[in-house]
Amino acid sequence: MYVCICNALKEKEIREKAVECPDATAEEIYASLGVDPDCGTCLYYAQDMIDEERTKLAAPVKMVSL
Ligand code: FES
Repeated sequence: MYVCICNALKEKEIREKAVECPDATAEEIYASLGVDPDCGTCLYYAQDMIDEERTKLAAPVKMVSL
């Protein structure tokens, strides 16, 4: 799914960069993908996805005993 229409950025690209660059802002993640925000409409939604990925990284890993 496209998140940023102006730059044709897909959700998968943004989520992957959020994991690779754990301290980057949405604008910095866009820059790492070689683009800059244009209209800015997507930034709030992109930041939500970035925060979601970071929450997953911070979540404790469940151990399963065999
Ligand atoms: S939709 Fe992303 S900058 Fe316009």
